[in-house]
Amino acid sequence: MSKNIVVAIDGYSSCGKSTLAKALAKKLHFIYVDSGAMYRAVTLYFLRNNVDLNNPEQVAEALKNIHLNFHSRDYETHITLNDEEVSHEIRLMPVSQNVSPVSAIREVRKEMVAQQQRMGQSKNIVMDGRDIGTAVFPNAQVKLFMTADPKVRAERRYKELLPNNPDITLEEVFENIAHRDYSDTTRKESPLVRADDAIILDNTNITPEQQLQFALDKVEPFLKKQA
Ligand code: DC
Repeated sequence: MSKNIVVAIDGYSSCGKSTLAKALAKKLHFIYVDSGAMYRAVTLYFLRNNVDLNNPEQVAEALKNIHLNFHSRDYETHITLNDEEVSHEIRLMPVSQNVSPVSAIREVRKEMVAQQQRMGQSKNIVMDGRDIGTAVFPNAQVKLFMTADPKVRAERRYKELLPNNPDITLEEVFENIAHRDYSDTTRKESPLVRADDAIILDNTNITPEQQLQFALDKVEPFLKKQA
């Protein structure tokens, strides 16, 4: 097989990046990596162990003790933190509310980016996140930058969260999204920006099927080259 294909999907919180990434990986039989799950798992460890984000020694020590692994089953994200399955817990509000400051720490990013780059070294892969097309895989063959109206994003996320968080309100979800958009785009370390060569995909008014077809059309020429 000639060089592996990397599809980088970046964009704002709750834009459906993972829905698209999963569907694409499944259709193409590529590996799927949810890079946000890694920052979430690190956040969970920091919360459980009361790691002081402003203390570089504590952060470095914590990073040494964190071992993350993905177990790919049915293209859903199954991630373990030191061998404990945490896929459910990393989606709950305590992690969502604390993940932005953790993902803004330079040492955390350095470690996560190195791990992500190893995963995309030799296999066809779809990875979604905030800095995949800019920092992790600047040479990715296909880069998509996803966006959607923030109100539409909040409604979609609210519906997704409600079954596991019965007390949650739409306002709370909207606030969390607005806050994360702000911190993700204004942080010093690898802020969320569109790579110059990334294709914008606004899915406010299109269906998941339409966006999948859009992405497949972008990958197709590279599959032909690889064949
Ligand atoms: O995609 P998500 O909402 O699960 O990501 C959780 C947080 O992690 C988000 O607030 C930004 C951060 N993140 C990041 O900084 N870089 C990535 N590549 C992926 C996520």
